[in-house]
Amino acid sequence: MTLWGGRFSEGPADSVFALSRSVQFDWRLAPYDIASSLAHVHALEAGSIINAKVAASLRDALIELRKEVLSGKFQPHATDEDVHSALERGLTEKLGEIGGAIRAGRSRNDQVATDLKLYLMDNMLKIGAALVKLQEAFIAQSLEYVDAYAPGFTHIQHAQPISFGQELAKHAVALERDLSRIKDWFSRTNLSPLGSGALAGTSLPINPTESAARLGFDGVVPNSIDAVADRDFALEALSIMAIIGVHLSRIGEEWTLWSSSEFGWASIDDAYATGSSIMPQKKNADVAELARGKAGRFIGNLTALLTTVKGLPFSYNRDLQEDKEVIFSSVENLLLLLPPLTGMVRSRTIERQKTARDFDGA
Ligand code: ARG
Repeated sequence: MTLWGGRFSEGPADSVFALSRSVQFDWRLAPYDIASSLAHVHALEAGSIINAKVAASLRDALIELRKEVLSGKFQPHATDEDVHSALERGLTEKLGEIGGAIRAGRSRNDQVATDLKLYLMDNMLKIGAALVKLQEAFIAQSLEYVDAYAPGFTHIQHAQPISFGQELAKHAVALERDLSRIKDWFSRTNLSPLGSGALAGTSLPINPTESAARLGFDGVVPNSIDAVADRDFALEALSIMAIIGVHLSRIGEEWTLWSSSEFGWASIDDAYATGSSIMPQKKNADVAELARGKAGRFIGNLTALLTTVKGLPFSYNRDLQEDKEVIFSSVENLLLLLPPLTGMVRSRTIERQKTARDFDGA
């Protein structure tokens, strides 16, 4: 289903529909789209644009739809253009014409900006929680190895003797900066675009402040033209994730090296290593290598969206649809990578005799 065909005598060519279709990836926004629709129903009712009966039917149908989305019972169709149109189809299938009432005073432009913010705010907190676990693993290890000694390096040359506890704890400090970036980003992102409409709000008497509060935002964006054009929150999130990715890649590089036969400083637990069928003596630090390798993707995703937004005229342009896949890629890959990396750090053994021996020879 498309939401805009009214004045066209025929639908778009198949190739055009295939190009503009986004539901195959933006379906991830469905729970957030339903949340913002529920807030919008309240706004329409409070402004007496719909009566209490219609509002109750819309609310019940949205809650039911949410259950069906989460259980997988409601799925997008091949003919649905994006998450917004698929869910509106779901509403009209349940309620008939009344389902369309949700459209009053709202556009997909403010809807998609709101959904994306909600998705990112939720997921950046999940990433923060996963970072805390990695930090804890480093701190636990640093306490265990505070009296283990090793050569410290500059220019990859033996420089000064160090406590291995300090060597391990340094990563917890870098991760703390990542956490503070997320916190700072959160407070700047936490303003609702809902109510901005296509670009200039709506003449209908709806109160965006109340919708914002219902969705848990701190307030409302100050300018609707900026609101539907702004993807700074996405760029900043991608940048934070790229920096996290770079931190993880440096951890990965270090641990690949430390677990090599030449260093022999760290033994990775079997559960977090892989082997080779043709060379059975090998134990590979694949988790560390993937941590190192995935940095390319995190940096690339940031660069891709910066390039899309560069020079883009304000208000909404369809180019902005390109924001989603890179965001999903960074979020999902970080959430995939952090647990095994944390497991590897937590379960690894430092060979203190070997680090001390190398220190003696320093
Ligand atoms: N799928 C679109 C996106 O992700 C939603 C907004 C479409 N708005 C429009 N005016 N065509 O950006």
